[in-house]
Order: sequence, then structure tokens, then C-alpha cells
Amino acid sequence: MDTLRTHSETETIQAGRQFALQLKPGDIVACYGELGSGKTRFIKGICEALGVREHVASPTFTIMNVYSAGSTPVYHFDLYRIASYSELDELGFEEYALDDGICLIEWAEKADEVLPRERYEVRFQLGASEQERELSISRLYGVAA
Ligand SMILES: Nc1ncnc2c1ncn2[C@@H]1O[C@H](COP(=O)(O)OP(=O)(O)OP(=O)(O)O)[C@@H](O)[C@H]1O
Ligand SMILES: [Mg+2]
Repeated sequence: MDTLRTHSETETIQAGRQFALQLKPGDIVACYGELGSGKTRFIKGICEALGVREHVASPTFTIMNVYSAGSTPVYHFDLYRIASYSELDELGFEEYALDDGICLIEWAEKADEVLPRERYEVRFQLGASEQERELSISRLYGVAA
């Protein structure tokens, strides 16, 4: 697990850019952490590095935004308003997660039961000062069938 501390919104965006260098089609990035902890900023950095040209913002009202990064679709979910797994079903969440696109998920705790085990997890915490955030990044591997 990698832990890093950022001291501004720009540093969190930069951390996202750096993190994105390892991403491949089909990868899932599950983001956890309270309101305002920096999930969207980090995802903005990921999208920049992937070559997404669209504006990246929390898709709070639409639940999901789709961007394109070359030939790879990027699915940006914000599950904050999801109240039940049946809502995830209606969205087709699992199909997106299993797709060849890159899946970036805010409030991933809302999808824990249906998230593939193989994924990146990024946990965001508020730091000691207003501009400080702590990011813990880990990679989980699938279990052999
Ligand atoms: N080090 C930092 N990293 C990221 N954001 C920071 C930092 N310091 C201050 N901020 C501010 O904190 C807020 C983070 O907002 P952001 O939308 O990225 O959070 P979020 O985790 O996506 O929240 P939500 O759960 O509401 O979607 C922004 O207003 C940003 O300017
Ligand atoms: Mg957000």
C-alpha cells in the first residue's frame, strides 16, 4: 500500500495523473472517503493523464459520466445517491465494471458487494489542516477460480 499526503487541490490532481500511468483498459479504481476529501480532484488528474478532453466533474445527478480516452471509454461513477443494489442494477453497473473501459468510482462503498475483487482502492482522508489530504492506494488481486 502506498500512502501519500497532499497539501493542495493541485497536488491531488497531480497524484491522480501519476497514478493513471499504470492504468490499463478494464481497470477499476474504487475511491472511498468522505465529502470533500478529494475524490473528484484525483479522478480529474487520472482523466487528464488518460487524455480525456471533456470537463471532469462529479456526476452526482446523473450517477455516471462517460468520457473517451482515445479508443478507451472512461466511466466516472458517483454513487453517493445510490440507496440500494437494485439501483446499481438498473444502471447496469456490473456490466460497466466488467467492460474493457476504465471504471472510476466515487463512493465505492455503495457497490462493495458487487465490485470485482481485482481493483485499485484509493482511500481519502482529511488531514490536519484544511488543505491537507491523505491518500492510501492499494491494489487488490482477484482470487483464482
Ligand atoms: N489537498 C487537497 N486535495 C484535494 N482537494 C482539496 C485539497 N485541499 C483542499 N481541497 C478542496 O477540497 C475539495 C475537494 O473536493 P472534491 O470534489 O475533489 O471531493 P470529493 O471527495 O469528490 O467530494 P464528494 O464526495 O462531495 O464528491 C475541493 O473544494 C478542493 O478545492
Ligand atoms: Mg466528488
